[in-house]
Amino acid sequence: MNQYESDVLIVGSGLAALMVAYECSSDCHVTIITKSSWQDTNSYKAQGGIAVRQGQDDDTFLTDTLSAGHHQNNATNVNILVSESEAAIKTLNDLGVPFDDQPDGTLHCTKEGGHSRRRILHAGGDATGKHIVTAFKKVLDQSKNVDIFEYMTATELMVKNGLCHGLVAKTEQQTLAAFQAKHTILATGGIGGLYHTTSNSQSLIGDGIAIAHQAGARVSGMEFIQFHPTMLAAGGQAKALISEAVRGEGGILVNQKGQKVMAGVHPQRDLAPRDIVARTLYRAIQKGDQIALDISCVKSFHRRFPNIAQICEAKGIDLAQERIPVSPGAHFLMGGIVTDAYGRTDIKGLYAVGETANTGVHGVNRLASNSLLEACVFARRLAHMIIRRPVSTREKINVDDERSINLDSHPLTTAHDIRTLMEGSAGMIRTEQRLVSALRQLERWLGPFHDVKRTRLSLQQLKIANMLYVSRLIVSAALQRKESLGAHYRGDSTHIYDKTSLVGGRR
Ligand code: SIN
Repeated sequence: MNQYESDVLIVGSGLAALMVAYECSSDCHVTIITKSSWQDTNSYKAQGGIAVRQGQDDDTFLTDTLSAGHHQNNATNVNILVSESEAAIKTLNDLGVPFDDQPDGTLHCTKEGGHSRRRILHAGGDATGKHIVTAFKKVLDQSKNVDIFEYMTATELMVKNGLCHGLVAKTEQQTLAAFQAKHTILATGGIGGLYHTTSNSQSLIGDGIAIAHQAGARVSGMEFIQFHPTMLAAGGQAKALISEAVRGEGGILVNQKGQKVMAGVHPQRDLAPRDIVARTLYRAIQKGDQIALDISCVKSFHRRFPNIAQICEAKGIDLAQERIPVSPGAHFLMGGIVTDAYGRTDIKGLYAVGETANTGVHGVNRLASNSLLEACVFARRLAHMIIRRPVSTREKINVDDERSINLDSHPLTTAHDIRTLMEGSAGMIRTEQRLVSALRQLERWLGPFHDVKRTRLSLQQLKIANMLYVSRLIVSAALQRKESLGAHYRGDSTHIYDKTSLVGGRR
């Protein structure tokens, strides 16, 4: 078996992963492994932008974040997010990220749902993520201290006596490789790939959450999944994202009669927090309405949103009609692996950062454009802690080389069936009856995997095992939370969450 050693091992290649690698690379040897190509991440696809405090007197950034999160946020971490936002943006500026500016040379800020003022930076119009991660990749490619392994799937953590020593991974050729490290960081992104309708890449199924939880790390808030209101709905499918920034620049949600859907629903109308807009659209669509984004008031649409214009045109949408058909889809997980403000998990030497972590910063519903910011701010903090406190060399762990197991006699379920189950049972509106039956089905499907060592599964089996495992975490959490709260909505409950029943906010 191939064996690799490094100071810092990072799983994933989105913004959080690249930021940790960048900040650590001057002092440490860093290895990044990612199960797909390095661009196959939510960060790369991010359209809208990255929020940043607009000066010391921008108090509403904090209150907007708390209010979108239904005040269930970890307030200390929200303070960190806001107060360290300018420093994080400075890092991006220093890297040469080409944020869009205005004719007078100052940076252009846009607005999105839940923000009470313009504070969102963007690049390439609506290709912010691509510009940011490309800037990082360029620098990391030149570093002698950073190795990147694509198509390398993290399979099982090496944890001994409560200490993480790295992990065992699997190559595309199904051979095992051992990656030992002093610090192991999970930055595996979101879980949108558990649903058919999602803004995420279908490969994002919560692998990091599965392996951390199986190794004994705490996971929380799995019921809080944000559904983005506006995914392009073309040909009966909703796949690509239509950024909220389109509404920030004047787009209005209308039904087939041209009536404004958000009028009278919330004072912020089309720019109300996402959970409210998404549920309003979902209910309207269930009633048989067709929802579209009226872009007639958006100035210079093609220039401001070139990427979205191209996506629409490729799907046969005639933008001259100034109406983009939309419907909601799974977008962002607020929960995840429980961490402190430095990415530390319950397991020593194991960290989580970005969407896969639950810092509590988003509460139960994330404020728009706070995800890239969270990735930057908390990844920088983690990297700086690692650099400040180097650890001594870890003992060598022996890993057995094992063959894949033959599960052929067991009929395994498919990714398609899992997505259908999740969409029907753990989607935007949940009921006890559907959740109970989903949990039973997931248990049945998990049956063949019981007592099988993960390193013995083929890549395809591992994918199904992770999908089932993370789906079970989501469904169980959704079942336990009987009241509606933020992004978690129980259609069978008249009880809206009472703040006093949770102490100290949730993580
Ligand atoms: C969007 O552009 O609407 C998505 C940005 C985000 O999720 O914050």
